[in-house]
Amino acid sequence: MTQKSFSSVFLASLKSARFVFVLTGAGMSAESGLPTFRGVDGYWQNHRVQDLASPQGFARDPLTVWRWYNERIRAYSGAQPNAGHYAPAQLEALVPDMTIATQTVDSLHARAGSKNVLELHGHLREARCTGCGVTLPLANGLDESLIDHSCGERFRPQVVWFGESLPQDVWSRAESAAARADVILVVGTSAQVYPAAALALQNDRAFIAEINPDATGLSDRCDCVIREGAAVALPAIVELLRL
Ligand code: APR
Repeated sequence: MTQKSFSSVFLASLKSARFVFVLTGAGMSAESGLPTFRGVDGYWQNHRVQDLASPQGFARDPLTVWRWYNERIRAYSGAQPNAGHYAPAQLEALVPDMTIATQTVDSLHARAGSKNVLELHGHLREARCTGCGVTLPLANGLDESLIDHSCGERFRPQVVWFGESLPQDVWSRAESAAARADVILVVGTSAQVYPAAALALQNDRAFIAEINPDATGLSDRCDCVIREGAAVALPAIVELLRL
């Protein structure tokens, strides 16, 4: 992508920005070979993803929920950050203050070197007992024999499920970073899940750019839309900032 691929106002806004806020979703990891949520028509085997990723689904069938997460954990550990992950890590060094708020739980932003990452929907690096709070590392998933804890409760993944609140400290940090942003990049999210999607809408002063091959519910609210994949657009933006 060349300078002509981007609006001059966008590049000027980014070059002069003091605060940059980046909201990312599953599309960030598409080029790492990880399927997006809505790209797999919302089903895993014959289960609706929204049922598996819910307290009710876990209470009803913890074994199936863990089998779904164990498959994702194995996919995540085999995946590598892509150029779209490395670019924000480089962008952090080019702007005074940058925050990434991600809806992904694959840890690929951190593995690419990003320092200031807010995991809005949690992560899959460890499981937590719902009774006593003890945690277990999830490097290779959770052995099915360990789901029930000796305290009488169960281990669950450290992710935010449908119907659950986001971690308060993470949410308030994301809200203040979005509110003070001069430029907001919305990358690889269908913007269908709130409150995460609202982060890009609460600041009417910022220049908002969407990077997504497809249109989303946020597209009309953006100052520019870049219909390209994250692994192509983000490195091109970083290169142009360096000029
Ligand atoms: N680069 C950028 N965007 C891409 C790419 C790519 N290479 N490939 C796909 N996309 C876009 C898709 O067009 C889509 O708009 O990424 C978006 C992925 O959307 P979803 O699958 O809905 O994922 P996401 O927005 O992260 O979902 C939000 O929903 O299921 C819950 O908790 C889950 O965090 C997730 C939340």
